[in-house]
Amino acid sequence: MSETTAAKRKILVSSALPYANGSLHMGHLVEYLQTDIWVRFQKLRGHRCTYVCASDAHGTPIMIKARELGITPEALTERLSAEFVRDFGDFGVKFDNFHTTHSPESEALTTEIYEALKAAGDIYTKMIEQAYDEKEGMFLPDRFVRGTCPVCGAEDQYGDACENCHSTYTPADLIDPVSVVSGTTPVTRESEHYFFRLSDYEERLKRWMQSANLDAAVLAKLEEWFEAGLKDWDISRDAPYFGFRIPGTKDKYFYVWLDAPVGYAASFKNLCARRDDLDFDEYWRPGHDTEVYHFIGKDIIYFHMLFWPAVLEGAGWRTPTSVFAHGFLTVNGQKMSKSRGTFITARTYLDNLDPNYLRYYYAAKLGPTIEDIDLNLDDFVARVNSDLVGKLVNIASRCAGFIGKRFDGRLAQELADPALFDEVGAASDAIAGHYERREYSKAMRLVMALADKANRYIDEHKPWVMIKDDARQAEVQSVCTQGLNLFRSLMIYLSPVLPELARKAQAFLGETHWHWNDAGTPRLGVAINKFTPLLTRADADKVNAMVEQSKQSLESDDDAEADEDTIGIDDFMKLDLRIARIAAAEPVEGADKLLRLTLDLGDGERQVFAGIKAAYDPATLVDRHVVAVANLAPRKMRFGVSEGMVLAAGPGGEEIFLLSPDAGAEAGMRVK
Ligand code: MSP
Ligand code: ZN
Repeated sequence: MSETTAAKRKILVSSALPYANGSLHMGHLVEYLQTDIWVRFQKLRGHRCTYVCASDAHGTPIMIKARELGITPEALTERLSAEFVRDFGDFGVKFDNFHTTHSPESEALTTEIYEALKAAGDIYTKMIEQAYDEKEGMFLPDRFVRGTCPVCGAEDQYGDACENCHSTYTPADLIDPVSVVSGTTPVTRESEHYFFRLSDYEERLKRWMQSANLDAAVLAKLEEWFEAGLKDWDISRDAPYFGFRIPGTKDKYFYVWLDAPVGYAASFKNLCARRDDLDFDEYWRPGHDTEVYHFIGKDIIYFHMLFWPAVLEGAGWRTPTSVFAHGFLTVNGQKMSKSRGTFITARTYLDNLDPNYLRYYYAAKLGPTIEDIDLNLDDFVARVNSDLVGKLVNIASRCAGFIGKRFDGRLAQELADPALFDEVGAASDAIAGHYERREYSKAMRLVMALADKANRYIDEHKPWVMIKDDARQAEVQSVCTQGLNLFRSLMIYLSPVLPELARKAQAFLGETHWHWNDAGTPRLGVAINKFTPLLTRADADKVNAMVEQSKQSLESDDDAEADEDTIGIDDFMKLDLRIARIAAAEPVEGADKLLRLTLDLGDGERQVFAGIKAAYDPATLVDRHVVAVANLAPRKMRFGVSEGMVLAAGPGGEEIFLLSPDAGAEAGMRVK
């Protein structure tokens, strides 16, 4: 029973190629686990499914990172590729090939595509102006220039957009721009760039979009971009650049995003060289009965749903069957944060926790849309323990002992309740449909509902009671055989998510291979092996240890980005907070909200204007102790100079509450 009646599909699947300049983290894993589950599902159904990936080696950030480390970009890529392969392997992400974009296959295919686009008249050159670092002798990508936002005045913004007011602009618009590479002021320089005529592709892209069965939110995004009008795409960068040189030029390179998706094809080509059963053209030239899918994050939709299909069309290649975009990961409801310890690398997770937990948790949360998904660490522990240990594994551990000890490890010839077994078998199509459409959360919910039924069945039959009655031994064997067969079917359904557990369960049941359809046929009358615990409970202390470890690695991490929503202890220590006695308080003529306070700070007096008139009668304030910021730069106001600030809580108006120390605090004391 291990052949499907349906025809074998030929499917090629990719995940986005991770940049080779940093370690994998929990966010990346959403994508690689989502893809791996889908690929394993297809293989389990008997289809020929091939999963390729590679590290994305090119571009300025990698070139600069390598320079900082004093190594070549090739060496950096190799180092990180090796790390990726280890991390992915330990999470059970099983590629058919993991390659690199800095490869001969990549260069040959990128060149081929470029030449085809050129021949089709889709490439032209144009002079553009760009920021240039004279000290380093290089053009600067927008993100490598920082300065003050020309619109809102926020300091230290990137050269392409302001994180404060969300305006977009070019580096030349920044006030006081600085090169991130050398710290010098960049100049504007002209250079000839190569462009791809994306604007000519609107019709063809719209046709592709219709055929690709895209999610509604993704379609809406694409519509928005069409509405705004497609702009031609700048595909070249000037030397020095880590990438492939454009044929026929001395110092022009392909922009990393031109060759990056070609890396999918190149990784496949590299695999074809050692696999007789795979033919490159069958998957990449038009007119074949194969399917190609790219799994990506929502941040790179533009590259995969506009640039990439257009480039493929233009070059006369086939276009992807579809592109599947997922949302971003938050941890405990917030953006991953190094200071909170929620920026967790793949390795730090593995140092502390079992990868099966994460595979299951993500599956239980994932759907087919670009909605973000949250890793809530408390929920993670609770969910894994309740579903995997409490429901799934429990079925087997409640039945295995009796079979092993009393029946020589042999399963009964018949099921005790064939109807219940068939009910689990009948869920096959629904569960498969959920996997196929990437509705993993629905698949998990359905499987766990069946696991509940299996446990209820065992609860009702109580083999641990029957076993004491000599007349009911055969019944114990068939009830436990029933339980183990329910467990086995559910384990088959879950094997794309939990391959390692599935392998252990298989070994326990004396099997070596499962096909999806095996879930519909019980295993009877055969000897099985000794049961060993499949999974231990997730431990909240280990989760805490992982978070702590993530905080520590922050200290040793020189390129930790400062979080926008936290400050370091050094920043906090800059505040000079002191106890002040209000020596005098009076209204300010011509100001409805202000009181003029004279603060006694122990070492002298300061004048402070505070907007608290609606909340306080000045007479009641005299001699009251408050908390003041003593080192605020003096500020000239219409009524005089304000030399500090008093701390208060509340929304304002009449609802303002000055902070006061407990009795005993004296003017001048430091607040720490
Ligand atoms: N190198 C490009 C992809 C080129 S594909 C031809 C890139 N690399 S990446 O390392 O930044 O991201 C790899 C994948 O991980 C992307 O699909 C990205 O969306 C995904 N994720 C990275 N951080 C993520 C989260 N925090 N959450 C979910 N997915 C995230 O982009
Ligand atoms: Zn701004």
